[in-house]
Amino acid sequence: MTDKELVILAKKAAEVAYAPYSGFTVGAALLTKDGKMYSGCNIENAAYSPTNCAERTAFFKAVSEGEREFSAIAVVGGKNLDFKEFCPPCGVCRQVMSEFCDGDFRIILSRNDEELKVYTLKELLPLSFGL
Ligand code: THU
Repeated sequence: MTDKELVILAKKAAEVAYAPYSGFTVGAALLTKDGKMYSGCNIENAAYSPTNCAERTAFFKAVSEGEREFSAIAVVGGKNLDFKEFCPPCGVCRQVMSEFCDGDFRIILSRNDEELKVYTLKELLPLSFGL
């Protein structure tokens, strides 16, 4: 699967984001090493702190289906599905990624439809804590 295809799936995932409080809709598409895709959206909560980010939704869906090996994730986010800025994953999501992924895991961000930026997990979470 190409990076662009993964971004399209992340955008589709954002369409079902549950974000009535912030209006900030996020979608993620997580690719396993053997080519399967798990999508995720952010899921907000009236009590705020139970809110789950799109990236973690995708990871938790995949891990709960037995997946352990991942190669890339595409993430898009913006107010009401308007993805005009890059949406880099929050620190908590980076830490969850580091539990299951190597430093060369790829994080694909997109804005304004065509623009892509690709980082490795090592770049976004240097000196990470792990066992
Ligand atoms: N959010 C994500 O889904 N992923 C991130 O990496 C950052 C933030 C969500 C959480 C919340 O529902 C909304 O964006 C605004 O913070």
